[in-house]
Amino acid sequence: MEIANNIKYIGVDDTDIDLFEGQYTVPEGISYNSYLICDEKVAIMDTVDARKTNEWTEKLEAALNGRKPDYLIIHHMEPDHASNVKLVLEKYPDCVGVCSQKAVALVKRFFGVDFGNRLQVVKEGESLSLGEHTLTFIMAPMIHWPEVMMSYEQKEGILFAADAFGKFGALAHPGSEGMAADKLHGTVDGWACEARRYYFNIVGKYGAMVQTLLKKAAKLDIKTIAPLHGPILSEDLNYYLETYNTWSSYQPEDKGVFIAYCSLHGNTEEAALKLAEIIKDNSDVKVSTSDLARDDMAEAIEDAFRYDRLVVAAPTYDAGVMPIMQDFLHHLSIKAYQNRTVGIIENGSWAPAAGKIMHQAFEQMKNISIIEPIVSVESTVKEKTVTDLKALAWALIG
Ligand code: FEO
Repeated sequence: MEIANNIKYIGVDDTDIDLFEGQYTVPEGISYNSYLICDEKVAIMDTVDARKTNEWTEKLEAALNGRKPDYLIIHHMEPDHASNVKLVLEKYPDCVGVCSQKAVALVKRFFGVDFGNRLQVVKEGESLSLGEHTLTFIMAPMIHWPEVMMSYEQKEGILFAADAFGKFGALAHPGSEGMAADKLHGTVDGWACEARRYYFNIVGKYGAMVQTLLKKAAKLDIKTIAPLHGPILSEDLNYYLETYNTWSSYQPEDKGVFIAYCSLHGNTEEAALKLAEIIKDNSDVKVSTSDLARDDMAEAIEDAFRYDRLVVAAPTYDAGVMPIMQDFLHHLSIKAYQNRTVGIIENGSWAPAAGKIMHQAFEQMKNISIIEPIVSVESTVKEKTVTDLKALAWALIG
C-alpha cells in the first residue's frame, strides 16, 4: 500500500488487545504503524508490537520484494513499535539501526544485546540520503519517551511523527480480515475523539515538549503526517497542528462544564446530576457528566482537559475522599491539569472531609480558579442543597 511514490505502509492493526499499555481500553483496537521507503537504499521506518510480529514480517517481506533493508529507522523504543528491532538487525546483518543517542541504551536494556556499530546515532538536523528520498532527523524528547525522534522526508514532505498525532483505533485497512473500510488516510471528522483521549492520557504531561516540536514543525513544508498510531494525515493539516497547539498549551478546546462524580449510595450522584439539570435548564452551556466508578477513566481525563470548567463531586470515605475520586485527581495532577475553573461538591454524614481534600488537590495545580464556597451535601439532597447547587451553577455559567 503506497502512501507516496516508493513509500509503503506496512503497519498492522491490533483488534484483539484488551488494554493498550496495560491500562487503556481500545474498543476499536489500535494500529502499530510502520513504513518502508524503497529507494537506492531501503529504510524500514519502525517495527511493531510483538503481538503482531508474524503479520508484520510477512508484510515487510512482501513489500521488500526480494530487496534487503539498509536501514531500520528507530524513532521510538517503546515496545509497541520497537519489539522487532532485534529481529530485524539479526535477520538482515547488513541493516543499520538509525536512532538517537538515548535510544542506544534502551536497545541494550530491552534486548540485552550491544549492537555496537550496527546502530548509527543521529542528531538534531542531521540528514540521511536514501537516493531520491532524504530523511532529516528531529529530536522530540518526551513525546513521549526521552529517546524519541522524528524524521522529515524532504521529497514528499512527510513528517514521520512517532507517537505525535496518533490516535486509538485500528485502521481497518484492506487486508485486515473482517474489516470493511479503508481508514488509512484520516479526515478531520471524528479524529479528535480518540486522538484527544490518546494525547491527554499518554503525551499530556509533556505539553512543553510538544510546543517545542510544533515550533520546529512550523519551519517545515509538511504535506503529510505519518504517525505511529492511527491514520495518515494529508489534508487539513492546519486543523491537526492547531488542535495540538491548543492541547499542548493546556488551553481548553471547548466551552462547557464537565461534572466528574462518584457516589456511594446515589446521593452524591443525585447532587451532581441536579447541578447538570440546573445548568441545562438555565443556559445553553454544554454539560457532560461522568460516573468515575463506571465510566472510562481515560475518557474522564480527556473531558476534563477538553472543557474550560470542571466540577468534582465525591463523598467522604475513611476520613478522606472516595478512592476513585482520589485516583481521578491524581491523574489530573500527573497530567499537569491547569488553566481551568473548578467547582467542588462534597458529601459527608458525620465528619465531611472530601471537600477539603479535593480543594487541596486543586490548590497544588497551576492556575486553577476554585469556585467558593464549595457545596457540602449533608447525606442527602435537600432544599438547602439545591439552593447551594444553584449558586454553584450561576458561578459556573455566569
Ligand atoms: Fe506508541 Fe509511546 O508508544
